[in-house]
Parts: sequence; structure tokens; C-alpha cells
Amino acid sequence: SIGGTKSNDSLHDRLPAKIRDAGVLKIASDVNYAPVEFKGQDGEATGIDPDLAQAIGKRLGVKVEIADTAFDKTIPGLQAKEFDAVMSAMTDNRQRRDGTDADGKQVNPGVDFVDYLIVGSSILVPKGNPAGITKLDDLCGHTIALQRGTTQADIVDRQKAACQRNHNPVTVHLFENDTQALAEVASHRADADMNDLPVAAYLAAKGGPGGAKFEVSGPQLQPAPYGIAVAKDNTELRDVLVKAINAMIHDGEYDAILAKWNVS
Ligand code: ARG
Repeated sequence: SIGGTKSNDSLHDRLPAKIRDAGVLKIASDVNYAPVEFKGQDGEATGIDPDLAQAIGKRLGVKVEIADTAFDKTIPGLQAKEFDAVMSAMTDNRQRRDGTDADGKQVNPGVDFVDYLIVGSSILVPKGNPAGITKLDDLCGHTIALQRGTTQADIVDRQKAACQRNHNPVTVHLFENDTQALAEVASHRADADMNDLPVAAYLAAKGGPGGAKFEVSGPQLQPAPYGIAVAKDNTELRDVLVKAINAMIHDGEYDAILAKWNVS
């Protein structure tokens, strides 16, 4: 058998032939979202998703390659078969499964998800919360910086209409990655950012780029599962990933990885 001590011949045998032959599972991730995925000091992807991905690779007896990809390019790249899967703190939702946009228009064939962790969003503001933003309604009259293509961008898009009705519009600045959105808040061009709670909590604890200080404001919003995205027709890969994750949950490796990153 190929791989380390944890490789499992039956899972390896059930992989799609293409991945088995290559000996590599290629995963797209926007490696700019600590502690879920970020570049370590050696420049290698590290964090919850890369650790889980490497552990999955060991169990499948294949090497894992992480392709750093802008978040809004991960699903298009998956559809174009540039990667086998996406693992990028990606929320499993109906829109992505169906391949539709916010207006219900078909934009791609949709994806399948293998769920692995429940996470919601939270509002992140400069320490001291100068604009007093603790809930979505408080965004009206303020400027928020967000990462393009995220569930947070969808949440604020819906909030936009509510602010409009009250003649107190919210201004939205969209960026390719969350680090750019944070810089916008740190430089006072935006009042808040919104990202996944583990990311917001990590930034509040460790400080942001350039030493900027942030705090998490208000409760977690809309908790939903993170999923590993695979192409809709790739049921072989999906089923093997489900088995690998279940085995990791069963023998404690999953909990150990989350504990390492202070998430449970
Ligand atoms: N969970 C959110 C979503 O699915 C944000 C994910 C952003 N991921 C990243 N690596 N920047 O839209």
C-alpha cells in the first residue's frame, strides 16, 4: 500500500481512478483566512483545513496538494476540473449546491459537499467599537468591508434592502481576500468587516495585519456547516471523503486537530 501508517487500502481502492493514478489529491483553498487556512512561516498552507486535508490524504494513501486560489475562483476552478476538491472554510448552502446566484439564476452546474464543521459569521470591528455596531441593523449608515463571493457578502446584500427602506444605506466595499477587507477597517475606510467566527476570534486575540486591534461584536450569525466541495458527478470522491472524515471523528484525530487550533 502507498502512504503512511494510517493509509487504508479499501479507501485507496475506492478513489476515482484519476486520483489513484496521479497519487495526488488536488485541493483549492484561499490560504488567507487564519486559523482555518493561512500561510505558515515556511510559506506552506497551515491551519484547520490543511491539517484535515493532510490527515485525509494519509488515510487515502495519496499526497495532498493545496492550490492557493482566490475564494471566488474556487468553484469555477473545480467545475473546470483544475482541482479535485475545494477546502476553503466554504459554507455548504443551497445556492452553491444548486449553482445559482442570489437571484436564482443558474451560473454553474452546482457542487456536492462533504460537511465537517459548524461555523457561523460574526461582525468584526476596531477595538472599542467606535461606530457601535453589534448587529446587522447597525450597519445601516456605515461602511462595511467584505470578501467577495462569501456568505457574509450575501448576508449584507440582504441587509442592504432593509437599510434602503429606512433611507439609511449601508456602503459595501468588496475585496478578493479577507486580509484586504481587514486593511480597509484598520485604515478607517470601513467601520466593520464580517467573517467566519473562528477567524474573527483569532484576529481579536492575535491582532490583525500591521498590529491592528479588533474585537468581535455581537453574537454568531447563521451557523451552518463547512463542506469540502466536490464536482456534482464525483460521487466516488464524495463517498471516500465521507468515510475518511467519519474515521477521523471515530478515532479522535478530528478532535485533536480542532483542539490544536482552539476550535471545537
Ligand atoms: N464561510 C464563508 C463562505 O463560505 C467564508 C469563507 C471564506 N474562505 C476563505 N478562505 N477566505 O462564504
